[in-house]
Amino acid sequence: MQTVSNVLNLVKQAILPALQNASLIVDATAGNGNDTLFFAEHSLEKAKIYVFDIQPAALEHTREKTRDFAGKIEYILGSHERIGEMVSGEIDVAMFNLGYLPGEEHVVTTKWESTLAAVRQVLDKLSLNGVCVIVVYPGHEAGAQEAARLEEFLGTLAKKKYTAGRYRLMNHSLSAPYAYVVEKVR
Ligand SMILES: C[S@@+](CC[C@H](N)C(=O)[O-])C[C@H]1O[C@@H](n2cnc3c(N)ncnc32)[C@H](O)[C@@H]1O
Repeated sequence: MQTVSNVLNLVKQAILPALQNASLIVDATAGNGNDTLFFAEHSLEKAKIYVFDIQPAALEHTREKTRDFAGKIEYILGSHERIGEMVSGEIDVAMFNLGYLPGEEHVVTTKWESTLAAVRQVLDKLSLNGVCVIVVYPGHEAGAQEAARLEEFLGTLAKKKYTAGRYRLMNHSLSAPYAYVVEKVR
């Protein structure tokens, strides 16, 4: 397995310590359930994981993949714009793995308006040293716009309260996915 050459794997390794101590985890985009499974496997038994997707098929794949951990997972068929309303308490780890559902027809993708609204809600609820990972896919038009809008917003975060970083391969095509990672520092 590539660890540091694959941005998604890199950030997953980087957030492991936070994950292992987390009480409340949000996977904002269920997709095929790979990220939810990673969160379930590496978190405490008493941790609670909320997972959102607007596509019933995605939520079904995720439910199937994580059935051994179903006791600590809340599967929500709905937009991550509802995080503020559906998740009570402070969030320790959140992940937005944006774009299209892999392996399906590319009809439904995340959209910058709803993504930005949901990211704002997560950041408002982050615990101290809580982390929010956002993986963007600039290789398609909506993904490029989404990345640009997120970058604009994340750059305005008060550095006394949050650190916002960008993890991007330098010698790959500009369309390769990359990640933003935000930590609440105060
Ligand atoms: C790249 S996939 C996620 C990959 C996934 N985390 C995995 O491990 O397989 C992106 C997912 O975001 C979902 N999505 C799109 N808009 C959404 C929204 N407003 N709220 C929640 N999920 C959304 C899509 O249906 C798709 O399944």
